[in-house]
Amino acid sequence: MISDKMEKALNDQIKEEYFSSYLYLAMSAHLKAVNLDGFAHWMKIQSQEEMTHALKLFDYVNEQQGKIVLEGIGKPPSEWNAPLTIFEEAYKHEQKISGLINRLVDLAIAEKDHATAGFLQWFVKEQVEEEATAADIVHKLKMVGDSNQGLFMIDRFLGERK
Ligand code: FEO
Repeated sequence: MISDKMEKALNDQIKEEYFSSYLYLAMSAHLKAVNLDGFAHWMKIQSQEEMTHALKLFDYVNEQQGKIVLEGIGKPPSEWNAPLTIFEEAYKHEQKISGLINRLVDLAIAEKDHATAGFLQWFVKEQVEEEATAADIVHKLKMVGDSNQGLFMIDRFLGERK
């Protein structure tokens, strides 16, 4: 059993995870359009991963006999000027999501909802990984700068993501 407040906050997070998925799918489409297939592939997988995050929350709310109320998902941008801009935005977005997860944990603790606080620990750990991965790609892109050869190598590397 979860409180109405916790239920609403978890429903809001489902929307945020779907928005993340939508944002990364838009980024993937843009990267594909500029022939960076490896980058596009990586982003598409990331988009799919975000949906699994949303469904994890969905299943938890159901398991706790809460009510799912799906919110509208915002429209993501469709144009970016460079892969570096995209990955900087993705990194900033993940930092924002980490903040939202932390707020959910704060709420669970304030409500003495140990089950939800425990459940959310998976997301806390996942966010550390998500931020680190995005930051690493930003770092690599900054290292290669304007080198097309460097960009091509990162593209090949990201295209190997399973
Ligand atoms: Fe579901 Fe990338 O956070």
